[in-house]
Amino acid sequence: MRTAVVFKSSTGFTERYARFISSSLDADLITYKERRKALTGGYDTLIFGSSIIAANISGISWFDKVRGSFKYSFLFVTGANPKENNPDLSSFLTAQKEKGHDIYYMPGGLAYEKMNSFYRFVMKKMFLPMVKKESGEDSAMYKMVSSSYSLYDEKYVMPLLDDVKRAQA
Ligand SMILES: Cc1cc2nc3c(=O)[nH]c(=O)nc-3n(C[C@H](O)[C@H](O)[C@H](O)COP(=O)(O)O)c2cc1C
Repeated sequence: MRTAVVFKSSTGFTERYARFISSSLDADLITYKERRKALTGGYDTLIFGSSIIAANISGISWFDKVRGSFKYSFLFVTGANPKENNPDLSSFLTAQKEKGHDIYYMPGGLAYEKMNSFYRFVMKKMFLPMVKKESGEDSAMYKMVSSSYSLYDEKYVMPLLDDVKRAQA
């Protein structure tokens, strides 16, 4: 079985998970910029990794367009939210499932120092004031998202690895 891991990452969280996945599965790692390679390399399995930006999955239309060309396709997504005890995340994942996107969610975090100036502006001027208004300045949520943090953990990759191996067996 030949597997391609295509990832779209701007601040590194998705890339880090993608690197771990590709080395665990002995799969080829392909950047989103070079995504054409996934279509021409004779792969039967596509794993696409991306992130949630303003409640949307970045690059999802590409994945939807090409996934039918592969025998197996998998989607993993990183975001700012913790995975556990998270009703907001659960309803997002349920809504995505209804759209046909079975997501392996892997918590990323926020890396303000790696964001481009537009993203940093959006986060500082729109997102943070919104969280402050909704949750309060003293809330755990506001404190968490006010500065950079990482929730990266390889344990979140295991369900995806198990399912890929099972499908390809
Ligand atoms: C402009 C912007 C909007 C974001 N919107 C969301 C969001 O709606 N939900 C979420 O969980 N995370 C959101 N995030 C956090 C990213 O999904 C998270 O940092 C992700 O791990 C980034 O992946 P990357 O480092 O591979 O680019 C947002 C980040 C930025 C910069």
